[in-house]
Order: sequence, then structure tokens, then C-alpha cells
Amino acid sequence: MEPAHGTSSGAGHPIPARPAQQLPREAYVSPEWFKRERRLLFGRAWVCAGPAHELRGAGDFTTVAAGDHPLMVVRGEDGVLRAFHNLCRHRGTELLEGSGRIKQSRIVCPYHRWTYGLDGALHAVPLRAQCFADLDTRKYPLLPAALGELGGLVFVHPDPGADFVGWQGSVEGVVWPHRFDRMSAGPEITYEIQCNWKVFVENAIDGYHLAYLHRRTLGGPRADHNLWDVHGRHLVWYSTETGRKTCLPEGIARSAAGSSALLIEGAESGEYGGVFVLFPSTIVTASPGELSVSRLQGMAADTCRLSVQVWRRKQAWPQRLGGEDITDAPGYDAASGVFRLAYLPSHPLETGDFHWEDVWVCEKMQRSLQSPSYRIGRLAVGPGAEAPLEVFQRNLLDYLAPAASPMPGESGPYPHPHH
Ligand code: FES
Ligand SMILES: [Fe+2]
Repeated sequence: MEPAHGTSSGAGHPIPARPAQQLPREAYVSPEWFKRERRLLFGRAWVCAGPAHELRGAGDFTTVAAGDHPLMVVRGEDGVLRAFHNLCRHRGTELLEGSGRIKQSRIVCPYHRWTYGLDGALHAVPLRAQCFADLDTRKYPLLPAALGELGGLVFVHPDPGADFVGWQGSVEGVVWPHRFDRMSAGPEITYEIQCNWKVFVENAIDGYHLAYLHRRTLGGPRADHNLWDVHGRHLVWYSTETGRKTCLPEGIARSAAGSSALLIEGAESGEYGGVFVLFPSTIVTASPGELSVSRLQGMAADTCRLSVQVWRRKQAWPQRLGGEDITDAPGYDAASGVFRLAYLPSHPLETGDFHWEDVWVCEKMQRSLQSPSYRIGRLAVGPGAEAPLEVFQRNLLDYLAPAASPMPGESGPYPHPHH
């Protein structure tokens, strides 16, 4: 199969001198637009499946969706990490849920017990002689997907021929130095946010708001004291307040100084990017004390979910963390197991948590976007202001362009893997 040339490759757009909004209002509110994104963007995108370190034993697996494609990642008995479509080859049932360890190295479909090895080979079919006398099991392995690793994180793509090296591009040379085997994870926290997923991304790459919306939490830097570097389709943020490129706003760095006992080995210098926005939907923030991985998923035109997990040195976590009790944290909705702004007992600007400030302003933006009177104004000039928004929007439009290559399911049946 042809990989999606020109889309999964590392080609991207530079920071424009005079940025302008590229997307119409419909891009943020229309269910049809969102459907196109699921098919043409997320169905052809590299999606983060978490740290490879969490899948270090044979049989360790996790599942993740790329648009309409349910995928799974499994460590084989040979130590190789593989990605497959999470579909049984009999009649298609989803095979694995969540993450964990597969028992006895056999992936068993719950519907009729077709059974696969960790390498995807079909091993057993119940009542084979009676029901499938002429079945050649070699023709029905799990459908492969593509897999790559960047900075210790696993990324998967529905198309087994997708070009990871091209997508990764030059960001590989500037990634965070943190190693997952030297850190421990906190609980994964999911926010359900009432905004289009792009509103959240655009807020994340907007360097103009840091000194204003977050004046009481991050407190800056000002737009002319930080910048976003372009690496292919990815964007990497730095503070330039000290005259050098560093990962933290100066105010935060100063208040964190002195807690050196809790610094992550190898990441002490802070001379790397502070935020990595990996196109389209993975955001990694890095600092000497922690690494956080945020995975964004569009749920509908006006709803997205952000799952955030933080890694620190083991000693930096409170003792009780083992219990993973996030349920008394403000904003938790026990019925759905996610955090929602509507459940916050206090005003978001009084939480002292910049995440809630962002969620609040994103939901406000979405309400404005719903208005037929909404007009796009101007974007602030500068690589530390709003020019990155144009870069992100142009990258998105490349995927949605009608000329883009057809993908599995559009050009015919999914091809059989070759052996
Ligand atoms: S659908 Fe999986 S065994 Fe029938
Ligand atoms: Fe923000």
C-alpha cells in the first residue's frame, strides 16, 4: 500500500512573518468537518500509545484509537513491540480493552475464541474441522499497524506502511532527555472539555496569553521572551527570558530552585524544550522535576478529552500516591470518571492551577465560536506569540485537502499483509 505521501512525511510549514487565521469558523463547530478530520487526519496520524517502558514484559499491551481505527500495541515473546488493528479476523470483534498483560501469550477473541499469538499469528479456531474445513490459518493473522518510538514514547499509525522517520523529522534531535525507567508515574487524569480539540491545541501553542490569562499561575513569559521552533509539523516551545533557550518560565524556575533533590537524573540542565506539540494531538511538557504527557482526543465537534499523566522521581511523589486517589480532587465527576470544569467548586482563576485556566478559556472560546456573529480578528506577530497557530492550521489543511492520497477503506479492502 502507498503510505500517505506528503502528509505523514516531515514536511511542514514555517513560522510566518505576518500570521493569519487559515481555518473558517466551521472548522471548530461543524459535525461534518469533525467527521472529515476523524477520517482524513486522525485515521492517518501518529497517535501516542504511552511509554514503551510500561510495555516492557512479554504480553504487556495497551490500546489506543486513531480516528475510527482501534489499535493495540503488544510486546512479543521475542521482545519486539508490535502494533495491530484491534480487530478479530473472524468477524471483527474488538480483541483487547484498556491495557495490561495478556495471559499465557495468547490473544483470545471473546466472541468465538479464535486465538492469536503475540506476533499476531492465528493459532487456533474452535471446531475448525467441522466449521472451517478449508481454512488456511496463515492467511488470517492480525492486521498490522505501524509503530515508532520517540523520546521513550510509542506512537502508532493505522497504515502499516506509514513513514515514522519522516513524521518524527528533526524533533528527534531536540527531544526531552528524561528516561521513563528513572521516573514513576502518577495516575492518569482525564479532562472532558467542552471545546473543539483544535481550540485546545491552539491555546497550547499561543504564547501571547501566558503573561495574561496565567498571570497568577505561570506569570509569563511575555510573547517577546519565548518562542516556538518548528520541526516538521511539530512545535517546540522555549523560554528565552535568560537569553538562552530553556524549558521553564523564569518565575517558575526561580521558585523551583532549591529542590534539587527531586530533579530527574539527566534532565537537570533544563536546556531543552518546555513544551512539545507533536502533530496532531500529543503534548509533552518537560522540566527538570517532571515530564508530563497529554493525549488529546476529539469526541465531537464541540467536545474533546485530554488525558494527562505526569512522571517524576519516585521520591518526589507523596507516599499515598500508590492508592491513586484522584477522586477527591476538585472537578472530578464520579459518574463518568473524568474531570469537568462544571464540577469545579471554585472559579477556575482561583484554583491556582493553570490547567483549569486553560480549560476555562477554551470553553469560553467554543461558546463564542458557536455564535453566527463570530469573526476571526488578527493573530499576534511573532514565534512567541500567535504565529504558531497558522503553522498548525496549515498542517491540518494539508491532511484535509481533497488531493490527499486515498487511505485504507477508501481505495478498497484492507490489503493482506505480505510475509
Ligand atoms: S469474531 Fe472473533 S472469534 Fe468470532
Ligand atoms: Fe495556557
